[in-house]
Amino acid sequence: MKILFLGDIVGRPGRTAVKERLGRLREEHGLDMVVANGENASGGLGLSSKVARELLGAGIDVLTSGNHIWKFREVYNFLTTEPRLLRPDNFPQGVPGRGFGVFEMDSVRVAVVNLQGRTFMQPVDCPFKAADRILADLKGRAEVILVDFHAEATSEKTAMAWHLEGRVSVLVGTHTHIQTSDARVLPGGTGYITDLGMCGPVDSCLGMKSQPILDRFLSGLPTRFEVAGGRVAIQGVVAEVDETTGRARSMELLDLS
Ligand SMILES: [Fe+2]
Ligand SMILES: [Fe+2]
Repeated sequence: MKILFLGDIVGRPGRTAVKERLGRLREEHGLDMVVANGENASGGLGLSSKVARELLGAGIDVLTSGNHIWKFREVYNFLTTEPRLLRPDNFPQGVPGRGFGVFEMDSVRVAVVNLQGRTFMQPVDCPFKAADRILADLKGRAEVILVDFHAEATSEKTAMAWHLEGRVSVLVGTHTHIQTSDARVLPGGTGYITDLGMCGPVDSCLGMKSQPILDRFLSGLPTRFEVAGGRVAIQGVVAEVDETTGRARSMELLDLS
């Protein structure tokens, strides 16, 4: 089966681009499933339930997220009621929502797992131990396992790839909004990329207007971030997975500007 993973969707420009292009991408690549990270889809930071519904209605099968998912309190209830919207699993027990789910895609059971890194990020529970626990839970429940590891450090993401090599079908990194050029299939049959990049304005700082961010670096004072305008990129990867073995066959980089 062919699965498209889209990097963090940033604001309205990112949403519009994805919605406009998704139908064509499905046809061009013969896609069976689309997984996208939505943590920046509402105003560049966070995800409202309205926008989550909009994206799920536009052909995205599963939305993953990350550190910004907690921005809007109103989404907490939606997180508990909508299984197609995930938040990183390794938060303290009892927080709203779930970190993984099993989805029936044309009679193939596909598990999607969402984890968050700890290096240069807020402290959360160990993502490596969380992954082990989730994989034990998923035993015999899914033919294909996909992981979105939302993390800052390339080292932590690469280490996770080797931790899960041969145990999951595909592991994609998100959060940095900068696409890496290392998409490949590891020897154990796990498709991997360190970061998918983003779906959002390219002439920007990670999708946001550059001036306020530059001002913050120059002055050390807090500034208000705003979604940038101009050219928009759609970035991610198309993975081909053998649903009988659960192994990835190929990882094709996607970068449409
Ligand atoms: Fe992000
Ligand atoms: Fe993030």
